[in-house]
Amino acid sequence: MGTVEPINKLLICERKIMHEVVQDYYGKTLQSSADLQTTACCDISSVPDWLKPLLANIHPEVLSRYYGCGLVCPASLQGCKVLDLGCGSGRDVYALAQLVGSEGSVTGIDMTDEQLHVAESHKAWHVDRFGFDNVQFLKGYIEKLDELDLEAGSFDVIVSNCVVNLSPDKTAVLEGVSRLLKPGGELYFSDVYADRRVPQSVREDPVLYGECLGGALYWNDFERLAQSVGFADPRLFEDRPLEVTAPELSARIGNLSFFSATYRLFKLDDLEPDCEDYGQAVVYKGTITNHSNRFVLDKHHDIESGRIFPVCGNTWRMLHDSRFSQHFEFIGDFSRHFGMFEGCGGGLPFDVEQQSDSAEPCC
Ligand SMILES: C[S@@+](CC[C@H](N)C(=O)[O-])C[C@H]1O[C@@H](n2cnc3c(N)ncnc32)[C@H](O)[C@@H]1O
Repeated sequence: MGTVEPINKLLICERKIMHEVVQDYYGKTLQSSADLQTTACCDISSVPDWLKPLLANIHPEVLSRYYGCGLVCPASLQGCKVLDLGCGSGRDVYALAQLVGSEGSVTGIDMTDEQLHVAESHKAWHVDRFGFDNVQFLKGYIEKLDELDLEAGSFDVIVSNCVVNLSPDKTAVLEGVSRLLKPGGELYFSDVYADRRVPQSVREDPVLYGECLGGALYWNDFERLAQSVGFADPRLFEDRPLEVTAPELSARIGNLSFFSATYRLFKLDDLEPDCEDYGQAVVYKGTITNHSNRFVLDKHHDIESGRIFPVCGNTWRMLHDSRFSQHFEFIGDFSRHFGMFEGCGGGLPFDVEQQSDSAEPCC
């Protein structure tokens, strides 16, 4: 019996075909979010209150062509240099532009002319609205970031929203990201994952591929891939199960389950493969704009301000050796090891049931 190969191992000619299928889907087939056939796209109701006024500042045509599957606005972005991979018509770029402010910048990359055209055509409108010009869009492939005029080691944060699954060479994408990030920078991205390896029949279905299901990685293959590229400790920030709403598509995917998930991958050389306990702790000062009561690092680290919060060595480094450092007090060092940090690892990381506080689908 043959094995189910991870989607990443496509031949060059297959990669070219997948690019064309995707360009056609996002350039011609889809005209707005309403044309999507899954609940991948999120409803405004699940957007945090502090983000709603920023989205209200974005041109309606840009909003109507939003095809993301999560929220890619991490905390503490003021002044940051941000890159958006597969920016589409630019909703996240224009939201992030307001969060980084006039001292920061946001670059969006996409391969589809029609998407970039919408993004570009409203640039002046947003400059006028925001009062500053800190956005640029580039045409390119996210697997070939080295072909673009982008300086290595120069980005604080790289985001992506429902795009990496569409890439036929996910290793190249993560390698390019690693090259462009500053030390201590992060890839913070939402994407679609499967609970098992996706069979060939689903991978080769152009609509399922275009709908961000066919190219989805089995979550554990993704975590291993990230580790192999040097992102030693991928952190899951949030997730939700996806529904395939069209009955005909649902029949084609059989027993596969899909999830939208947001991961953060820190570029930090000293992260360990597992969470080790050095008896360390942090105290969040409550100083990040829009996050004064708590700072959520990931699904397992919801850090209340003012409280002594025990952390493993990797979490300590993610907070200490990144842009978050100034917002924390740090207790301890790496001089004494106490074994494995309690409660780490193992099994499907996603919630199979929709959480009650995110009952509505989320864009
Ligand atoms: C699902 S849409 C998401 C768009 C955008 N992030 C958003 O949230 O609205 C996927 C986008 O990724 C772009 N894309 C897919 N594969 C790409 C690749 N290999 N290189 C560059 N862009 C790509 C498509 O053109 C499309 O605009």
